[in-house]
Amino acid sequence: MKLLLFAIALLLGVTTTQATDFKSQVAPVLKQFCYKCHSELRNKEKGDLVLDNLTRLAGKIGPAEIIKPGDPDGSSFYTAMKLPRTDEDHMPPVKEAQPPAASIEIIRAWIAEGASLDGRKPAVPSAPVAPVGPVMTWTSTDGKSIQASFLRLEGENVVIKRNDGVIFTLPLNRLSPESQAQAKSARQ
Ligand code: HEC
Repeated sequence: MKLLLFAIALLLGVTTTQATDFKSQVAPVLKQFCYKCHSELRNKEKGDLVLDNLTRLAGKIGPAEIIKPGDPDGSSFYTAMKLPRTDEDHMPPVKEAQPPAASIEIIRAWIAEGASLDGRKPAVPSAPVAPVGPVMTWTSTDGKSIQASFLRLEGENVVIKRNDGVIFTLPLNRLSPESQAQAKSARQ
């Protein structure tokens, strides 16, 4: 177990050395080219895909979701941007402004590095790995849920970690009352 934790710490350290930051690098691309049709604030939820609500976006990240951490080529979120423009699944739709190659590359790198929505600096490999509690179900106000372990509370956010190591920082007020209570009682 100790060895496994060490391996995970090492992996996190290695894969996040040059981590692409969601908030400062990925979100601006999505805002410019995707929010027009995939934004809760703008009331545009085409294809039931919302990119400006992190709890809902988190629900699209996972081994069976459109954003597969570590596997950009298996992630339709990324491959849709690489499809030929003649393909009807190409995103953004052909008549819309298209992101430059460098922006698409940011998305690819972000997914390749694990698609973390957590903007905090990654733990360095030598840092002690905090013990992780049991896996719990976290449900958002709109009924979506993910399975993850509680890590800590940070101000008005709860920080949780999914089994695949991806860490999420979720605003408490986006969680169901039960999940909010769960976060508060999980705090040491
Ligand atoms: C002009 C509107 C528009 C813009 C801009 C747009 N999309 Fe879409 N998107 C759509 C529509 C409409 C659908 C639903 C297509 C369908 O259901 O066949 C969709 C569906 C998708 C899907 C499929 C969702 C799923 O669950 O399968 C992905 C992935 C996607 N868009 C990604 C993006 C990304 C990434 C961007 C920005 C780079 C973007 N879209 C920009 C209109 C848009």
